[in-house]
Amino acid sequence: MEAKSNQQRLIRAAAKAREFASAPYSKFKVGAALWTKRGEIITGANVESASYGLTCCAERVALFTALTSGKKDFVAIAVVAAIRGGPMPCGACRQLLAEYAPSAKVLVADTRSLKMVREFAVGELLPAAFLDVPENPD
Ligand code: THU
Repeated sequence: MEAKSNQQRLIRAAAKAREFASAPYSKFKVGAALWTKRGEIITGANVESASYGLTCCAERVALFTALTSGKKDFVAIAVVAAIRGGPMPCGACRQLLAEYAPSAKVLVADTRSLKMVREFAVGELLPAAFLDVPENPD
């Protein structure tokens, strides 16, 4: 994942995944791609519902797909949409990333300028995350 070419591969995979977004309500299509330590790429896109609150972001679709197909050790996640500077993951996705991909780099890019990648750490996006449920609560 160190090389810029790998970073671009992941960004392009997210851009490709975005084509399969189902966003009839917001029309805002988002694609995401996870990179594992073993070099695997797992993608996802946002899926919206007529019952708006059921919508699932691209990041979580990618993460759930990866986890439920036995993938782990995520080193990066790319998120791509047509928005200046690239789409910033929502709070819910940040929480899931803090739990399942704490050391992943978060790479965001605008579909119209895929070479301009902004990079964040998960810990920077969600400092002081809630990670441990007490074992013996009252
Ligand atoms: N969305 C994502 O998929 N990822 C983000 O990082 C931001 C928001 C989706 C959810 C919804 O389908 C649409 O974008 C508008 O909020």
